Amino acid sequence: MTPLNDIDIELRMLVEAVYLKYNYDFRDYTGASQKRRVLAALRAMEVATVSELQARVMHDPAAFAQLLQFLTIPVTEMFRDPDYFLAIRRHVVPILRTYPSLNLWVAGCSTGEEVYSMAILLQEEGLLERTQIYATDINPESLEAARRGVMPLERMRLYTENYQKAGGRQAFSDYYTAAYGGALFERALIDKVSFADHSLATDSVFAETHFISCRNVMIYFNRRLQNRVLGLFHESLCHRGFLGLGSKESIEFSSHAQRFEAMARRERLYRKVGA
Ligand SMILES: C[S@@+](CC[C@H](N)C(=O)[O-])C[C@H]1O[C@@H](n2cnc3c(N)ncnc32)[C@H](O)[C@@H]1O
Repeated sequence: MTPLNDIDIELRMLVEAVYLKYNYDFRDYTGASQKRRVLAALRAMEVATVSELQARVMHDPAAFAQLLQFLTIPVTEMFRDPDYFLAIRRHVVPILRTYPSLNLWVAGCSTGEEVYSMAILLQEEGLLERTQIYATDINPESLEAARRGVMPLERMRLYTENYQKAGGRQAFSDYYTAAYGGALFERALIDKVSFADHSLATDSVFAETHFISCRNVMIYFNRRLQNRVLGLFHESLCHRGFLGLGSKESIEFSSHAQRFEAMARRERLYRKVGA
């Protein structure tokens, strides 16, 4: 085994301390990107070393809440990768239409942009009424923002373009009004969304689902954790259920590769095979 340098040892101890003290499990996240984020936290929190950060976080829950914002990367966008949403309309929606009721799980939903995008798509396809959406994340601040449904107004131009490329059928501005210093999305879109704290690293399956969208989350996980999460998804999905991943993620190299088949490989849409 190659010996670890001091900073890597300190990082491991920080992550272990966070797990023992707060029960947030970052132990199987990939090293390089985690290191970058902790170093960014050091600068922002004006702490000199990782060990010092660890001591602070151990004794001050507010400092942990601050560190969590760096460890979780709440970066998102509405209709991110429009081709993904277009492929859902083309390949997944016609099959979802055949079910009398639907459960959709948006795992790692961040501040809600993906959830609102899905809700708009389902509404336009006449499916929202019959759908229960579960939107989960481990970052309480992100979940709270998702529940509020207020997005920065300056992002609406990009989101409108994405929406149109994703096959949007209306004026995107019909879905929000300017309020609270941002764009407030229609409450009806999230009437049937349950936002919940759920960790893909430590929690188990909570519902049978027809479609799981988990985008740009597993990219931060090592192979072991990716395998755990794909196992969880396989268990949650109903017979022939759908799974959508982010553009840089895939299941081809996981131990579950044979348990899913590609529906639209480029857009990262898969379907469960087997029981
Ligand atoms: C980069 S964002 C992706 C947001 C959205 N899915 C998208 O593609 O735009 C990653 C999200 O995954 C969440 N996350 C990280 N680890 C997680 C875990 N173990 N369980 C559930 N969510 C997690 C983060 O809090 C963050 O909100």
